[in-house]
Amino acid sequence: MSDPTVQAADQVAAVPQTPGEVLLDAGHVKKYFPIMGGLLRHQIGQVYAVDDVSLQIYRGEKFGLVGESGCGKTTFGRTILRLETATGGTVSMDGQNVLALKGNDLKKMRRRMQIIFQDPYGSLNPRMPISDIIGEGLLAQGDKANGWGKRSIRDQRVGDYLEAVGLRRDYSRRYPHEFSGGQRQRIGIARALALDPEFIVCDEPVSALDVSIQSQILNLLSDLRTQFNLTYLFIAHNLSVVQYFCDRIGVMYLGKLVEVAPVDVLYANPQHPYSVALLSAIPVPDPRVRKKRLVLKGDVPSPANPPTGCRFHTRCWLRERLGKPAECSTVEPELRTIAGGHQVACHFADQVTEQAVQESAATQSVIDTAVAAD
Ligand SMILES: Nc1ncnc2c1ncn2[C@@H]1O[C@H](COP(=O)(O)OP(=O)(O)OP(=O)(O)O)[C@@H](O)[C@H]1O
Ligand code: SF4
Ligand SMILES: [Mg+2]
Repeated sequence: MSDPTVQAADQVAAVPQTPGEVLLDAGHVKKYFPIMGGLLRHQIGQVYAVDDVSLQIYRGEKFGLVGESGCGKTTFGRTILRLETATGGTVSMDGQNVLALKGNDLKKMRRRMQIIFQDPYGSLNPRMPISDIIGEGLLAQGDKANGWGKRSIRDQRVGDYLEAVGLRRDYSRRYPHEFSGGQRQRIGIARALALDPEFIVCDEPVSALDVSIQSQILNLLSDLRTQFNLTYLFIAHNLSVVQYFCDRIGVMYLGKLVEVAPVDVLYANPQHPYSVALLSAIPVPDPRVRKKRLVLKGDVPSPANPPTGCRFHTRCWLRERLGKPAECSTVEPELRTIAGGHQVACHFADQVTEQAVQESAATQSVIDTAVAAD
């Protein structure tokens, strides 16, 4: 049986995939976290959570960011929003240098860039009524022009945005524990929307929800994008959700972007060996179809001590197939354009063919064969 999330999201209106105006331009973004240790708690190393990531997001698009747990998706999202201080790189939003903004200019920019969190339980203060949870940001951003400093104007706006996300205005007097998971996520969305943003980082906004609720929230996000002219960076684990929700996709591995492509191109023709393996793990809804799965060997290496050269080389099936060329472990592959809108960071991407994938899957000791009903 097919995934209802996918079915519902499939009905969402598609956005043209032709590049338009760049809204968010991230250049060589780095975020390293210090590792403290020793008796004096001094820095003994660092976690290379995001390491030289460049990508452009077009106005109005839904850009998906995928990759295994710990590869740096959330850190990238938080760094471009300045919720984390970047270690290096540039972020420009609508031509403005986000990382250099200060004072009032930074405050204004914060309104334009919002985030929706994964955990609808943990992200709402249980001691605050909904009116204050949504109103808090409005109060902080209040000025003479918008009048958000006034309680009556704030309450009006809170009610308007509760309705926009499909909740009743009078819910504003309730507390988070009085809502279901899906309703709480709607409140989180209303909180972000109330500030009139243009760009929203949706950090796994449906992963904590039941499948039936996931489709409702995805459809809501899609409708709101049209209604409020929004642009999304959509971070997710579920590749099926990303396939049907997003216009373009970026695949991350160990702090690096390894492939970027329009969604239909990436799913039909992935060119990075890591993307190939990730996509081979998606279940096929048709029980008559046999699908070979490429199983990645070993654990993800520590981002505190990433492998030399290509970071994927310790787990790469293509490197094995090619007889372990030295280049893989010594030269870091650049993200290069291989076709219109399709970028890949692999020295040997041209060797990723259907035949290579099938033969590599067949020679693996563990081959997951999706249900066969011969
Ligand atoms: N505040 C922090 N201090 C130190 N290390 C951190 C911090 N935040 C994240 N990290 C590390 O940075 C790396 C990337 O983490 P991040 O949360 O961005 O990954 P992710 O791709 O969002 O993973 P998940 O899919 O599990 O949410 C991880 O190794 C994580 O442990
Ligand atoms: S550069 Fe080498 S190790 Fe890296 S993905 Fe390509 S083949 Fe694999
Ligand atoms: Mg995350």
